[in-house]
Amino acid sequence: MQYSIQEHYQSLAKQYDDFWGTSSDFIEFLTKKIIEYLKLNTTDILVDLGCGTGIYSKAIISQIKLENKIICVDPSDKMLEKIPTNSYYETVVEDATMFSHKSGKYDKILIKEMIHHIDDKEKLLQGLFSRLNEQGILLIILLPPTIEYPLFEKALSVYESVQPHYNALVNLCENIGFKTTVNFIEYPVSIPKEKYFNMVKNRYMSLLSRFNDEEINQGLQEMKEKYTNLSNLEFCDRFVFLSAKK
Ligand SMILES: C[S@@+](CC[C@H](N)C(=O)[O-])C[C@H]1O[C@@H](n2cnc3c(N)ncnc32)[C@H](O)[C@@H]1O
Repeated sequence: MQYSIQEHYQSLAKQYDDFWGTSSDFIEFLTKKIIEYLKLNTTDILVDLGCGTGIYSKAIISQIKLENKIICVDPSDKMLEKIPTNSYYETVVEDATMFSHKSGKYDKILIKEMIHHIDDKEKLLQGLFSRLNEQGILLIILLPPTIEYPLFEKALSVYESVQPHYNALVNLCENIGFKTTVNFIEYPVSIPKEKYFNMVKNRYMSLLSRFNDEEINQGLQEMKEKYTNLSNLEFCDRFVFLSAKK
């Protein structure tokens, strides 16, 4: 069965944080980099666009005291429900492009692993250019064109055919008037094999929602054979940090 992206995240919401919950070092590491590349100041108005369950908004709050609420935007109300209702966050159930074309001015905008869900990226980026204050920074974090995840072969090849290339995003940003820089951030992941297999079974990446149950089971079988003698899977997780400034 093929799910829509909306359905995928609505049903994933319950488990999403558990997938990464035991990897607090990883989240802390990436959050430090996010704060650094956003040049986040305590007075900034920050938007976390496509925030999901707010994993990174919550981690940002634990590392820096912000005077304004983080504006957490996501079309999945089930994902947003995982964000506490308190003075640190304002949640908005909305599609990113719609949000980007509504009034409002912000200092910093974070898009982490969401840009691949946007069909008309130019329209989104044009909207965001208008939303950013003069000293503003948009940080787009996405996976690179190829990944080393210990997935089955078919998943990796589909990934390569659908993942947007960061260079195409750079061109779009530059044409709109942004000045861009690209950096690569790496993190060595070590994860118990059974945990990772369970994440794949639960389609932890939206990429996996392209495969039906039979294909996922075949994929898992392939992975079992490939990693038969290992109890831990080790690989390098790489992120593209695309900073766009006015
Ligand atoms: C892989 S998750 C990333 C969540 C979060 N940024 C993180 O890194 O943990 C992708 C998120 O993008 C959201 N999303 C999908 N389509 C979207 C759209 N058109 N506008 C905004 N967010 C969208 C999904 O609901 C989901 O929460």
